[in-house]
This record gives sequence, structure tokens and C-alpha cells, in this order.
Amino acid sequence: MKHRLAILLSGRGSNFEAIADAVESGTIPNSEIVAVISDVPGARGLALAKERGLPAFAVDRRAYASRRAHEDAMLSILEREKPELICLAGYMRLLSSEFVRRYRARILNIHPALLPKYPGLDAQRRALEAGESESGCTVHYVDEGTDTGPILLQRKVPILQGDTEETLSARILAEEHRAYPEAVARVLSGLEKGA
Ligand code: GRF
Repeated sequence: MKHRLAILLSGRGSNFEAIADAVESGTIPNSEIVAVISDVPGARGLALAKERGLPAFAVDRRAYASRRAHEDAMLSILEREKPELICLAGYMRLLSSEFVRRYRARILNIHPALLPKYPGLDAQRRALEAGESESGCTVHYVDEGTDTGPILLQRKVPILQGDTEETLSARILAEEHRAYPEAVARVLSGLEKGA
């Protein structure tokens, strides 16, 4: 049986692409993407999923009166597709504690900073403004907080003289694309061993 992965995204989808490439090449062994769900129907990531022939679902956040109703719609897809692991890949909405509890230790996220530093939005800009000499990315389990769950893997990058938010973000993003597939592979291999 293949490992079943679901992706939640809201935008560009480059981390989704990195995971999908790793699934295709076997860098994430013995796995398949069973659902790509976006709360933003026009998200580039969703279009990319469709181009790859993957099951892509728009669950428009604006079409639901509450976060609860929106999550219920996503949950009905997830319960049907039965992913072992849900990867947040630029999913820009906080998940409720009910959702997180339902998939406890089965939801991963990637964040563009060395957590616990700079959780939340604009992490790259804040690291730069604080005069840090390095930053990076963190793959972590999702808990009820904002970017607070147990850390799985981190990758550092230097902050260089003359860096802008754009140059630093690009340097971090390149590491994200290596780190996220590696973390997914590690978690799946742990699940195989019954961890
Ligand atoms: C990445 O910087 C990721 O760390 C953050 O959101 C961004 C998503 O980018 N959580 P993409 O949509 O994967 O290109």
C-alpha cells in the first residue's frame, strides 16, 4: 500500500511542487498525493495540481459562513481520501483545534524562519529587520498554536550584507524545497516503523 498524502495550500504552490516532484522521483518513497485542497480557488498551486493530473479541490473560504463550515467541507474530502499525512504548503488560514486534534501528529507545516523565532507572517522581513546573521526554514508538526508545534527539521541560510526581503526569501525558499520532502520521507518512514 502506498502512503497517502494530502496537501493544503492557498497560493503559489512551490512547496507542493517540490513534494510532488519527490513523490514522482521516489525521493519520498512509495507514496501518492491523494488530494490537493485550496481555500483560494484561483491559487497557482491548485492549477499546477490539475496540470499534473492530481485530484485538486477548491474549497473556497468565501463560500462558507464560518471557519467551522469551511473546515467541515475540507474534512469531508479528507475523510473520503484518507490521507496518512496532511502537508500544509502555504496554507494561509489557521486550522481550528478540532481539526488539529482530528489529525494529531498527522499535519506538517513549513515556515520560513528558524522557529521558535519569528512565527506568523512576514518572518523573513522580521529576521532581516532584527539584524540576524542567519535565518532558514522549519518543518514542524502542527498543533493548536501558530507555528508552535514540535520541530521535525530545520535548515539554516546566512543573511548577507545587502539582502532584501526578496533575496532572503528566495534563499530560504530554495532550502524549503529540499527540507520539506526530506521531512515528509522521514515521517513516513517513522510511520512504517510504527513510530
Ligand atoms: C513558504 O515561504 C512557506 O514557508 C510558507 O508559505 C510559503 C509558501 O510558498 N508557509 P509556496 O506556496 O509553497 O510557494
